[in-house]
Amino acid sequence: MKKNVRKAVIAGNWKMNKTPAEAIELIDAIKPLVKDADCDVVVGVPYVCIPAAVEAVKGSNIKVSAENVHWAESGAFTGEISVPMLKAVGAEYVIIGHSERRQYFGETDETVNLRTKAALAGGLKVILCVGELLAEREQGITFETVSKQIKIDLAGVSAEDVKNNVIVAYEPVWAIGTGKTATSDQAEEVNAYIRTVIAGLYGEEVAEGTTIQYGGSMNAANADELLSKVNVDGGLIGGASLKANDFAAIVAAASK
Ligand code: 13P
Repeated sequence: MKKNVRKAVIAGNWKMNKTPAEAIELIDAIKPLVKDADCDVVVGVPYVCIPAAVEAVKGSNIKVSAENVHWAESGAFTGEISVPMLKAVGAEYVIIGHSERRQYFGETDETVNLRTKAALAGGLKVILCVGELLAEREQGITFETVSKQIKIDLAGVSAEDVKNNVIVAYEPVWAIGTGKTATSDQAEEVNAYIRTVIAGLYGEEVAEGTTIQYGGSMNAANADELLSKVNVDGGLIGGASLKANDFAAIVAAASK
């Protein structure tokens, strides 16, 4: 990593894995391995694991994230969870716009934008996911795709929030859970491009201060190389975040 530029954030996205008891077990295993991390460490856990995870990370350097949130404070939205609910159980971050939400649950940039604004207004930090499908990469519209996502997802979000409370995670959809990692050059190219889009919207200073992660089959073996890139400010980790040693190895790579 190059900590002189921006502090890295390594975040796990557990997706639909782990019961509360298993969450405690995994966090207890991770804690001693990452206690000297020189990067921020976050675990994104299923809603039902949040209270147990918040309790388990007490006194450590690990923060807890939700994996989604609704934009309304309360109301007739069966199955949904609001920002005040997440705050009440101690979540500090929320992952928004993950490609699995977009692909399988009908998320659009408009709803991602509503969720992002509500989360920030309620005092949560946002990990905003963007990224192109394989078809979009093959059609040569990767930049257009992420640019459109960033512009709509962040519409109405202040420069201060973008700089301090938003982490952008570039996750090429073809690299998620497939074992097919983007090369470090591909990650760097798109992350750098995302920074130019943010600069166009908010100016250079905000863009330089914004954390932009890479996600998609990042693991203990490839983290060093990916994180060596100047515009890759950390990672959003799926599969490898479910194994304490693998997750800790990525945290160690980001702490160098
Ligand atoms: P994998 O690391 O399992 O590819 O998942 C990446 C991801 O979707 C993180 O949000």
